[in-house]
Amino acid sequence: MRKLWTVAITFLFSILVLVGLFVAVTRTDFFDALPSKDTPSATALYLDKNQPLQVRVADLLSYMTLEEKIGQMALVEQNKLWALEDVSKYKLGALLSGSGSKPEENTLAGWKKMIDTYQEQAGTTRLGIPLLYGSDAIHGHAHVPGMTVFPHMIGLGATNNPELVREVAKATAQDMFSTGVNWSFSPNLDLPQDIRWGRTYEAFSDDPKLVSKLGVAYLEGMQEGVDGDDKGVFVLANPKHYLGLGGMRWNTSVSEYSKIDQGVTPADEEVLREVYLPPFAEAVGAGALSVMVGLNTWGDKKMVLQKELLTDVLKGELGFKGFLVSDWYGVHEGRKNKFLATVQAVNAGVDMVMLPFDYQAFVRDLKWANRLGLVRDERIDDAVGRILYAKFALGLFDTKTDMTGFVDVKTTLHQSLAREAVVQSLVLLKNEDEVLPLTAKVQHIRVAGGSADNIGKQMGAWTIEWQGVDGNWPVGATSILAGIKVRSGQETRVEYNRLGIFPDKKKADVGIAIVGEKPYAEGWGDREYPILYEEDLRAIKNLQANSERVVVVMVSGRPLLIKNEMASFDALVMAWLPGSEGAGVADALFGDKPFSGTLPLPWPSHAEQLPITTKGETADGTPVLFPRYFGLKR
Ligand code: BGC
Repeated sequence: MRKLWTVAITFLFSILVLVGLFVAVTRTDFFDALPSKDTPSATALYLDKNQPLQVRVADLLSYMTLEEKIGQMALVEQNKLWALEDVSKYKLGALLSGSGSKPEENTLAGWKKMIDTYQEQAGTTRLGIPLLYGSDAIHGHAHVPGMTVFPHMIGLGATNNPELVREVAKATAQDMFSTGVNWSFSPNLDLPQDIRWGRTYEAFSDDPKLVSKLGVAYLEGMQEGVDGDDKGVFVLANPKHYLGLGGMRWNTSVSEYSKIDQGVTPADEEVLREVYLPPFAEAVGAGALSVMVGLNTWGDKKMVLQKELLTDVLKGELGFKGFLVSDWYGVHEGRKNKFLATVQAVNAGVDMVMLPFDYQAFVRDLKWANRLGLVRDERIDDAVGRILYAKFALGLFDTKTDMTGFVDVKTTLHQSLAREAVVQSLVLLKNEDEVLPLTAKVQHIRVAGGSADNIGKQMGAWTIEWQGVDGNWPVGATSILAGIKVRSGQETRVEYNRLGIFPDKKKADVGIAIVGEKPYAEGWGDREYPILYEEDLRAIKNLQANSERVVVVMVSGRPLLIKNEMASFDALVMAWLPGSEGAGVADALFGDKPFSGTLPLPWPSHAEQLPITTKGETADGTPVLFPRYFGLKR
């Protein structure tokens, strides 16, 4: 009987404790118990742009309450805000437009207005700390219709031209800045070793040296600032994804939508350090002030939990002064205990959490964790100090040039830069009897294939929508077919049919089959057998029957498995995902500019060769179809 009483009392007591805890954690005035801080005067040190960055950071930190500090560590998707006022209520430090998240009116002015509104809201807080506003400008500011869309990074890798990459990044930063976006989730420093991965095209190459070289050029170009004004960084670059991305194994994904994306990287520490770390080390040396942590797993732990890699290696050994941001829902996805997930990731070294949804819970959890001593004051100060350091370096607290209208002036320049990037990215893989470049003798051309007249396909994903768009829009871009037509002029007859079916039985001099993949992003692009679509194969066959010679132009984010089909092609050009300036393809086809690109990664002949190591070793030991850096010159 006594035992029963003891059990009952213990049970009731536990319930009381739990209820108490619940009330404490959820009550809205929880912060009120915290000590308040002085409000800075107009002459506060941190407002003086002549003070060293660290002095400004320390000064601003000294005025901040715990609540204000925690808000800085939250990165929220703009369309997941419950109310505009939440920006100030929760003192948020950063917002993002995830791919496809746009203002009501998706125009340049619409973006500017949306972001200005958020900044104004942030300005109403006691300290008025400006927001970082991030988006994935991974091939130009491509979520805004009408902006120049550059080749995806794999194409830039094929150019092997750091000067060009620097200019592309600078132009991208200018376009972003004119809309108020001050942070780009690029460059991508992943090293794809398995072309079945749906993010292969987001990377420059699988060669750490090339990725380091182009990554630095991109970062410096993006952070160089805007013409005529060298004060501050203007747009913050964000190398990603730290660490080991591209080395995941097929069928290890933790996501139900993927096969390899968000998978497990089996590399040991030596390989991680020798292969994957150098591009990040170089980027840190070149002034990277934010780095994104990947969604992959290493050993038995997700990357966001790898304290040794995040804190000891990146911040310690490499001396990274900026802040670490987690990837989309990366801290909380798949975790039952979100509170613990926050505690562990922040203690491992994550400084800003891309929530991107439930900011209320994050703020509450981190505050509670701090008060329980689970996340120490020093860790929070360190994280916030790093974020503020980047904000000061970016010039966010200082007056800046008004960039409205800048893009209108720059567009033609950016378009010709993009067209040049397309030409330099083309890789000539086969050219029997020198069918290319096309000469004036070619009087009749037939064009076919699903990627010939489809701007959406040639731009690839992360363009307006996350998974890209289909068809000939937005306006202002040029399809590859349109480029061929313009270059051919009046003298040459150019016919087009997607399937390569033409009523006239007389053979054309040359058929050009423009074939490839439809756009895809992340795990949605994981594909066990990346081969040509049936419809494109038929278009090639039809052209082969009604044209003397057939040139195949491939528009895809990765090499496709074409060993058998290729024997029948007269010429083969890899065009990657060229972006909005399709005319660049005609520039090289007609010999106005030379083919100079080389493969930034090996081209496998069959799927069993995958993965292919950075040293070029295939899984089954057989030789690849084309080695890395192969490319014919014409
Ligand atoms: C991707 C990141 C991207 C982020 C924000 C994630 O799903 O993995 O590369 O920067 O979304 O859009």
